[in-house]
Amino acid sequence: MPLQVSPSDKKLHVAIIMDGNGRWARARGLPRTMGHKAGIEALRRTLEAARDFPISHLTLYSFSSENWGRPVEEVHDLMGLLRYYLKHELATLHKNNVRLRIIGDRTRLDADIADMIVAAEAKTAGNTAITLTLALSYGGQQEITDAVRSIVAKVANGDLAVDAISTETIGAHLYTHDMPNPDLVIRTSGEQRLSNFLIWQAAYAEFVFQDVLWPDYGREHLEAALVEFRARERRFGK
Ligand code: IPE
Ligand code: IPE
Ligand code: MG
Repeated sequence: MPLQVSPSDKKLHVAIIMDGNGRWARARGLPRTMGHKAGIEALRRTLEAARDFPISHLTLYSFSSENWGRPVEEVHDLMGLLRYYLKHELATLHKNNVRLRIIGDRTRLDADIADMIVAAEAKTAGNTAITLTLALSYGGQQEITDAVRSIVAKVANGDLAVDAISTETIGAHLYTHDMPNPDLVIRTSGEQRLSNFLIWQAAYAEFVFQDVLWPDYGREHLEAALVEFRARERRFGK
């Protein structure tokens, strides 16, 4: 079923857990890295499609805090692909009016990647077509822990009263402080779990689990997820 798109559509924040690269490669007798490489192509296709749908924010789970525990070689290859993506894709992103953001624990990234991120964010800061956020070295529990640390530091300094701490205070101290909460969280590959992704922000998100491995993902899958999202009734507890 095609998605009916009208300029008056509410713009959505869609977050995707891009899963299944390893299984995609294994099914072809290829090394896992080839699955991650093919995953970058899927990322390109998905971003391009997202620009044609009512999506203001696309957030992609690219590397979790727990993924640091994978074999060193795989981590090394993933960081290599990330370097390659940032280096070669930035001009296209900028030309397409895409704002690039990275959320996650940057202190664990190699210095050259951290520097590239700062530069890419600065270059694209004024872009308005869509915000592409890569969750890198990201974990929701770690994000909340960091937020608690900075809030407690403010309390200890006398800059914040304990009674003034609200859910908004927590939200304002997360990496995502300047973006709306996700409306829709998609996970590919058939797994049905959050794996530490946006655990605070997804409190009222709709979930769509799709039985496609991430390297095979594209426009038709994103469109199908949006059609399913539209059919849901969101109540927010009311
Ligand atoms: C997702 O694919 C990419 C990352 C987590 C970096 P996986 O590498 O998890 O692939 P599967 O789940 O093993 O198939
Ligand atoms: C979640 O996928 C992380 C990313 C997609 C980047 P994983 O493959 O790491 O998650 P688990 O281990 O299946 O929960
Ligand atoms: Mg996986």
